[in-house]
Amino acid sequence: MKKTNKIKVEEFIRVNHAGERGAIKIYEGQLLALNTFVKNENLKKTIEKIKNDEKEHLDFFNKEIKKRNIKPTKLLPLWDLLGVGLGFGSAIIGKKATMLCTASVEEVIEEHYQNQINELDSEEKVLKKKIKKFRDDELHHRDIAYEQGASKKGLYSILDKMIKTGSKVAISISEKI
Ligand SMILES: [Fe+2]
Ligand SMILES: [Fe+2]
Repeated sequence: MKKTNKIKVEEFIRVNHAGERGAIKIYEGQLLALNTFVKNENLKKTIEKIKNDEKEHLDFFNKEIKKRNIKPTKLLPLWDLLGVGLGFGSAIIGKKATMLCTASVEEVIEEHYQNQINELDSEEKVLKKKIKKFRDDELHHRDIAYEQGASKKGLYSILDKMIKTGSKVAISISEKI
């Protein structure tokens, strides 16, 4: 494998590992709010289901990181903190913000995975197949979020932009360090 390819694939795995972990932290933050201050059993079930998929995604990248000896991003503790904070905060605001948070994050991740799919060649067949599967899962999560009332109207559009910008910044940093 060419050196540039190897570095690229390592960056892909590092950032995906960080992103999937971040996703789990967001959902953990939301569940924390839903187990304490906010009562909404349906919403809780929805989030628990999505979180199970993220667990599958993270497990895969966890294994890849170990198998290929890739260093995880140094900023995991920061992403953990921000993820839980974002999840908790959105769930405290209400159901629309909770689901918007899912929609916004999944829209960024979906595009991010699509870019990787476009760039990966046949040398990384298994990895590519997994990322395709995960991308489908993320699209499904996004659809659930809109079905459950995610809104981008009014002030929510600002929240959407903030979450998207934050996620993109986290992605570009986690590719490199
Ligand atoms: Fe995921
Ligand atoms: Fe997801």
